[in-house]
Amino acid sequence: MVELGVNIDHIATVRQARLGKEPDPVAGALASERGGAKWITAHLREDRRHIQDDDIFLIKDQVTVPFNLEMACTEEMINIALKLMPAQVTFVPEKREELTTEGGLDVKKCFQHLKEGTTELKSQGISVSFFIDPDDEQIQATKEAGAQFGELHTGDYANAQKSDAQDRELVRLVAAGETMHGLGLGVNAGHGLNYINVEPTLRIPHLEQLHIGHGIVAVALFEGMEKAVREMVELIS
Ligand code: PXP
Repeated sequence: MVELGVNIDHIATVRQARLGKEPDPVAGALASERGGAKWITAHLREDRRHIQDDDIFLIKDQVTVPFNLEMACTEEMINIALKLMPAQVTFVPEKREELTTEGGLDVKKCFQHLKEGTTELKSQGISVSFFIDPDDEQIQATKEAGAQFGELHTGDYANAQKSDAQDRELVRLVAAGETMHGLGLGVNAGHGLNYINVEPTLRIPHLEQLHIGHGIVAVALFEGMEKAVREMVELIS
């Protein structure tokens, strides 16, 4: 069965808007676990725009499902990962000006660097995944760099405006899943998935983990809004 990883960055984004304590991403991780998440995913960005260092250590401490730490392959992040010891690190590309991760890694271009980071993490028992586009050369380079998993970037599929464009992107994802499996790479996927577009992604062969954040948090907000307003109305009346 495909395992759901819930990305809780967006809870921290709301908290950071006030630089306060609420909403607490640790509570979000625990609620996700109660809801059936098989992984908790968080991206510790170099600019710390949402998730903070303390968050990941508290989550690792309090949550029982495995933790998937998304991060850039930098010395600072590798040192943090080696202290945290998450079950899995997913290397992602990072640009300061982007709103969110905007596509897969250029594994071929950053090959040596990624390979060294991968070797270091694997030597300590951390599983390594690369966030990649469904592209044969990137998949091959992911395998050669030593990663055990690739997370297929589903953003182009999710953002496609017309159904034929979306179908074409799905065909690419399906082919990529097959290629990855043939090379012995585990198949994960994520980005831009929601309650409308997720089902066809289950056609990606050998899919193990789907990492989803924004779509879940968006629905969680409205599932809880009515109750939250009712409680406030009761309190002030
Ligand atoms: N996977 C990766 C590698 C990501 O960078 C992100 C976004 O942080 C996600 C999955 C989740 O994307 P979304 O929030 O669009 O569901």
